[in-house]
Amino acid sequence: MTDVARILAADRAHVWHPYTPMDEWRARHDPLVVVRAEGPWLELASGERLFDSNGSWWVSTLGHNHPRLVAALRAPGARALSLLARGHHPRVGGAARRGGLAAVAPRKLDQVFYSDDGSTAVEAAVKMTVQYHAQSAPRAGKEEDAVPRALDGAFHGETIGATSLGGVEVFRRPFASVLFDCVHVPSPADDVGGCAPSWALAFDAIAELCEQRRDELAGIVLEPLVQGAAGMRFYPPAYLRAVRDPLRLSTTCS
Ligand SMILES: Cc1ncc(COP(=O)(O)O)c(C=O)c1O
Repeated sequence: MTDVARILAADRAHVWHPYTPMDEWRARHDPLVVVRAEGPWLELASGERLFDSNGSWWVSTLGHNHPRLVAALRAPGARALSLLARGHHPRVGGAARRGGLAAVAPRKLDQVFYSDDGSTAVEAAVKMTVQYHAQSAPRAGKEEDAVPRALDGAFHGETIGATSLGGVEVFRRPFASVLFDCVHVPSPADDVGGCAPSWALAFDAIAELCEQRRDELAGIVLEPLVQGAAGMRFYPPAYLRAVRDPLRLSTTCS
């Protein structure tokens, strides 16, 4: 058996691919066996080269095998895994550099909480907002009111908390019984039938909600500028500014 045949057999026997109806897919396709990846290019065992136009589902937005990322992962400091109760200098340095975020988001985005992946980062952000809600007057002690807001069409990851924030019905439906409450508001990327800019209508909706229920607001989670899983739906930066600035809300990005 060749290496490629072995990989295909092992994949067919044991790998459950994400978002894939496996029986149907296995009946029709072999998985792609990638032997090399560089920048936007994937090289297959067959010799074919593919342009990876969605960055392998947008996990590889900097390109594959990026030399600076590879060097950072190989650096000696990258082996220290826990930040619990100790400062680890390459990470702390990264955090300090990220303090530049404060220039973009003056509302004190000068602290960095490290997480494992996007979904867990969203979970951590939700817990932070709920705790903030619970500890801040006039919210103190009313953590049961701390219902997050997210956009229709949103996608924030696969864990239960991130799925609860998600606004794509097909991803939510099978798990409805275990999701927590989240109020979804119209997305600025929604098609509103060609009338006035949809982001303005969306902002009116969220502004109304925030003004009326300000004391209960735990947080708003947004995909900045593009709703990926909803079909790469873009919206203008003005919406992000509109949500953040006049209402003086803490902004969480994923
Ligand atoms: C906007 C957004 N947030 C969060 C996530 C979850 O990230 P991860 O797959 O690293 O858990 C994704 C994943 O596609 C995403 O598109």
